[in-house]
Amino acid sequence: MAPESVLYQIKGHAAIITINRPDKLNALNESVLGELNVSLDKAEADRNVSAVVITGAGDKAFVAGADIARLSELTVITAREFVERGQTLFNRIEKFPKPVIAAVNGYALGGGSELAWACHIRIASRNARFGQPEVNLGIIPGYGGTQRLPRLVGRGIATELIVTGNQIEAETALAMRLVNKVVEQAELLPAALELVESISQRAPFAVRLALQAIDAAVQLPQDEGMKLEAQLFALSCGTADHKEGASAFLEKRKPVWKGA
Ligand code: COA
Repeated sequence: MAPESVLYQIKGHAAIITINRPDKLNALNESVLGELNVSLDKAEADRNVSAVVITGAGDKAFVAGADIARLSELTVITAREFVERGQTLFNRIEKFPKPVIAAVNGYALGGGSELAWACHIRIASRNARFGQPEVNLGIIPGYGGTQRLPRLVGRGIATELIVTGNQIEAETALAMRLVNKVVEQAELLPAALELVESISQRAPFAVRLALQAIDAAVQLPQDEGMKLEAQLFALSCGTADHKEGASAFLEKRKPVWKGA
């Protein structure tokens, strides 16, 4: 039986999704994309899961890009379908109703960087390397790199990374605010899980609404984002958890969230 190319594991309140092709540096192929989708389905449906951690198997790579063997076969017609499949999945991650944390444990190149950019939070191990090397292969990023990277770091730095194809180290990514923190490799998963446990203490529906409002900050003009924030804020005030949060504070006890 072929090994699963994506592993799904529950730890505490986290769903840990591990891309599992270490002999190919976890390069993305169709089965990885399909299995990632299935793992996201499970994480979305499980009420015990507060947040998702995506990482790569082994200690060398998060994801070293889309599978170059597959890329080499693409034509003008099949390429469109190929990128739309990846874009749809990465858009799903960006709009996922629970926080998604990329635990970047090594090379994150091409589609690997783009996967990290689509996640809500990025933590990197000290040996992580980021890059958009597509121009070395005569192509451009196609899983959202040209759109998400400029929004994350601004046009100048995004352009430099995309048109040179140069790799940057974890500390440089931290200085560019592309990652939230850099830790030793052994500390990477514990750091991600610590974040998940912190999130798990908060009202789940409020977390979900906050993700939606933050997404609007990236996607919409500010005036429209403000309107959406007002609507989502009003919605949060109609929840049982809003009453529970306020009562628990006043009664000096821990809140018991209903997620509604
Ligand atoms: N697609 C398919 N296979 C890949 C891959 C990718 N994106 N990245 C790495 N691999 C494979 C290699 O072909 C090799 O397979 P093999 O052992 O069957 O020959 C295996 O993973 C190990 O990679 P290797 O190149 O030997 O490791 P390295 O330590 O010498 O170099 C990298 C690591 C990441 C610098 C190098 O693999 C690389 O440049 N990969 C391509 C990155 C890229 O351009 N990604 C963007 C695609 S758009």
